[in-house]
Amino acid sequence: MNSSDQIPVGAVDELGPGQRKLAFINGRGIVLFNIDGTIHAIDNACPHQGASVANGHLDGCLLSCPAHGLRFDLRTGCMPGASGLSLTTFPVRTIDGKLFVSLEDPVASPAPAPACNAAS
Ligand code: FES
Repeated sequence: MNSSDQIPVGAVDELGPGQRKLAFINGRGIVLFNIDGTIHAIDNACPHQGASVANGHLDGCLLSCPAHGLRFDLRTGCMPGASGLSLTTFPVRTIDGKLFVSLEDPVASPAPAPACNAAS
């Protein structure tokens, strides 16, 4: 991957476990989540009807869209137990205490996710 594809979105210290942050890259909204120390980045657009998901309720690693309540696993973008709609997720790297997101390399075929800790 070309390092010029890596876009800085802030310092690791700014985003503690359980926190989230909305960043804008070239006018595009990207939401970063720290879930148990792992940073996830997603497009701030629900694949259903495009609503902002930045303020959606988070239950473990499952994010609920505020508009109609569809839930997505932040690690994969997928809806648990369903196929079809999926959030666009982006790779996040940590370099020298800073976070970098690559928009050029959205995760198209995510690996199977381990069990989610959501209390459902
Ligand atoms: S726009 Fe997100 S569930 Fe409908």
